[in-house]
Amino acid sequence: MKSYKAPRGMRDVLPEEMPAWQRLEATAHRLARLFGYSEVRPPLMEETELFTRSVGEVTDIVEKEMFSLKKGKTSLTLRPEGTAGVVRAYCQAGYAKRDPLQRLYYCGPMWRYERPQRGRERMFTQFGVECIGSADPRLDAEAIQLACRFFEELGLTGLEVRLNSMGDGDDRDRYRDAVRGFFEPKRAELCELCQDRFERNVLRVLDCKNPSCQELAIGAPVVLDFLSEENAAHFADVQVALKSLGREPIVDPGIVRGLDYYTKTIFEIHAPAIGARSAICGGGRYDHLVRDLGGPDVPAVGFAIGFSGTLIMLEELGLMGDLKPVAPDAYVACLTGGDDDAALRREVLCVADELRAAGVSAIFDVDERSFKGQMKAIAKGGYRLAVIVGEDELARGVVQLKDLGAREQTEVPRADLASAAKGLLGG
Ligand code: HAM
Repeated sequence: MKSYKAPRGMRDVLPEEMPAWQRLEATAHRLARLFGYSEVRPPLMEETELFTRSVGEVTDIVEKEMFSLKKGKTSLTLRPEGTAGVVRAYCQAGYAKRDPLQRLYYCGPMWRYERPQRGRERMFTQFGVECIGSADPRLDAEAIQLACRFFEELGLTGLEVRLNSMGDGDDRDRYRDAVRGFFEPKRAELCELCQDRFERNVLRVLDCKNPSCQELAIGAPVVLDFLSEENAAHFADVQVALKSLGREPIVDPGIVRGLDYYTKTIFEIHAPAIGARSAICGGGRYDHLVRDLGGPDVPAVGFAIGFSGTLIMLEELGLMGDLKPVAPDAYVACLTGGDDDAALRREVLCVADELRAAGVSAIFDVDERSFKGQMKAIAKGGYRLAVIVGEDELARGVVQLKDLGAREQTEVPRADLASAAKGLLGG
């Protein structure tokens, strides 16, 4: 018989791993709200063209990595990133007219057909924020601060915040020309893909993963040298704001983001311990994307953090602690071996149900284990309470309630079980 596996680069998050994931999710939700961000949940698929237009036609994501499918005349794509969908939702909801400044966040799966490797998966989770509606450099700093806080709250240290500016408008055009001029004489030596990039989107040559292209790119013009006065001032203001928040980012002109929509500030947070592709957060400003997707001309800034890299870091630094799945509060056991075990087994289902109705989580034995076997399961399971139902107890309308921590057992009337259990649990 064929056995089935999850698709390559996609994985199951099993219950044992869930506490760590839930910690990341809870931290994301809490921090985002603390910074005034509201959750948004766009569909996991969008029209393919939305990504082509926003991420850029000549990018790895669009050229190689999208999971697309065609239904009728429509081509849909599983979102490879969250920004495009959030901006589309912002436009569709008409926020620009009624409440233009929106701080929005999301947490969920994204898909990219990448070569799976450490920290890189084909289905991965991002926590992202998008602050749409203002060009204020304090918001760039705020986004970076929020991303840093996320990692700090998890106990992660040794991270590097790398900052750059992509410029905008004329300075970007002049920079593009300079990069074209730089690569012109080396054109024939570039990889096949970069020869095409040279024609269609020369800045993407700087982002090529091919080592020989990376070598050819050494000494390429640096975008910071081309910034207009206004954009240089914006970049300086972002740095001043970050300094006043106590952050010392590394200005790294080598940062080129893999998406085309960025303008002005771009940043990445790196965990060098992960290895070559060590970015666990990437983001920046995208002042024209809303307009380019058919909305009004409103500026925006945001970032996304990858959970895979973050979890690797947590493990590497021994910060997973003893995060364990939480066992149900109570285990309902039955004292079998009497005249009517079947009746007893029916009754444990009802006892568990009474506990659940009162808010006490409970499970019961389903393996028809001996009473001794059930006691062994209780000892291993991490429960706080055991409820023992026996024939004699059933006849008298009582059960035995055992506080497994205090190792104390009391007989309680069945009608009082739920409140007694809650009392022992402290609630
Ligand atoms: P990105 O740099 O493509 O930016 O992704 C952000 C983060 O998602 C990366 O730093 C990495 O941690 C994680 N990530 C990306 N691809 C994978 C993968 N295949 N497997 C595991 N983790 C991955 C964006 O996605 C932008 N939308 C960020 C943004 C929001 N910019 C402005 N607003």
